Amino acid sequence: MIICHCQSITDHDIRAAVDWMRASDADTVITPGKIYHALGKRADCGGCMPLFLNTMRANENFQVPRRDEVPMLRRPRIIAAE
Ligand code: FES
Repeated sequence: MIICHCQSITDHDIRAAVDWMRASDADTVITPGKIYHALGKRADCGGCMPLFLNTMRANENFQVPRRDEVPMLRRPRIIAAE
């Protein structure tokens, strides 16, 4: 289903971009601007924003996971200063 008619962005495009961003960086805050950028596009009229946001938020990977949910290999190393 087309979500953004100005840029021909589908719900599938948004879900794929959210999944890709979460897999790339577990701590990133995902915004519509980042999704447009990831898709190589720019928002125009903004009329799609309510549906765009709902589509983003419906993705199970949208939320930044709690620390105890991030696999050990993806956690940043914290080095204590002496
Ligand atoms: S419909 Fe998405 S920017 Fe216009």
